[in-house]
Amino acid sequence: MKTRITELFGIQHPIIQGGMHHVGYAQLAAAVSNAGGLGIITALTQRTPAALAEEIRRCREMTDKPFGVNLTFLPAVTPPDYPGYIKAIIDGGVRVVETAGNNPQKWLPSLKEAGVKVIHKCTAVRHALKAQAIGCDAVSVDGFECGGHPGEDDVPNFILLPRAAEELSIPFVASGGMADGRSLVAALALGAEGMNMGTRFIATKEAPVHENVKQAIVAASELDTRLVMRPLRNTERVLANAAVDRLLEKERDLGAALKFEDIAGEVAGVYPRIMQDGDMDAGAWSCGMVAGLIRDVPTVRELVDRIMAEADALIRQRLAGMLAH
Ligand SMILES: Cc1cc2nc3c(=O)[nH]c(=O)nc-3n(C[C@H](O)[C@H](O)[C@H](O)COP(=O)(O)O)c2cc1C
Repeated sequence: MKTRITELFGIQHPIIQGGMHHVGYAQLAAAVSNAGGLGIITALTQRTPAALAEEIRRCREMTDKPFGVNLTFLPAVTPPDYPGYIKAIIDGGVRVVETAGNNPQKWLPSLKEAGVKVIHKCTAVRHALKAQAIGCDAVSVDGFECGGHPGEDDVPNFILLPRAAEELSIPFVASGGMADGRSLVAALALGAEGMNMGTRFIATKEAPVHENVKQAIVAASELDTRLVMRPLRNTERVLANAAVDRLLEKERDLGAALKFEDIAGEVAGVYPRIMQDGDMDAGAWSCGMVAGLIRDVPTVRELVDRIMAEADALIRQRLAGMLAH
């Protein structure tokens, strides 16, 4: 399949693995890139720019295909060393950066000068247009279904993607709720040039997370995610568990008086305990509604090959077969 996204990134299939905190290590990124998609290492999971440089080196040892790095701009009292991370990306010869969380304008000149392609992930058409205006090469349009931060507009992909297609001239991929060949064909029909997946890639053999995390995704239905931190306007879609119940109770009890400190126990620094130790009630962790479509833990290559075969059959047989001859 050839789309503006496969051409832009020099990849075989229009499938991207979105940055994921404590999941997007070199093993997963390399597996996705080796399967013909675009794997992405998550910069901020690496504690320092030097650790990111080492992770990039490790990834290059495992694949000779293009891969990217995710840079997430978070509201933080003491911001991470972004200039250091960007230097590690450029010095490491990485050709693609996925930005997310905030406007990446400040960092674009140095990335562009080094020939790095930038795909900005955003949840609103107005943010996608802004990304286009400041010179991003592509956008990842993240619908309300998505795992992680869906923003505050709550527009699902059946509306958001065609709206993006109406407005944008740069290529975009559909993100949020994508799982299989049906997702890919639907995304293409709605105007996207490919798809970005998060949750689906966690339930793969190569994802370097505890088996309990993969099984929790397989066991979950589309009804099992919750939205947390809405009162703080930092909404996150997470998998329901005991910690999330506790958190939501505090949100209800405290109402408008809620502060981040009130829920820090359920959200701050919990990822290693969940992703590495498999302590599934340790806190809130991002998971998409798409969990309801995930029923197995294949290798990344099996998953990607299956998606492309399904998409091919859908287009050539099911859809073409519906046209009057
Ligand atoms: C466990 C987890 C961690 C994530 N961490 C990040 C992150 O650090 N930065 C980021 O930009 N997106 C992050 N995301 C969002 C994904 O990159 C992707 O946009 C999202 O998962 C797409 O929705 P889906 O899960 O329905 O496929 C995360 C998602 C999950 C499930």
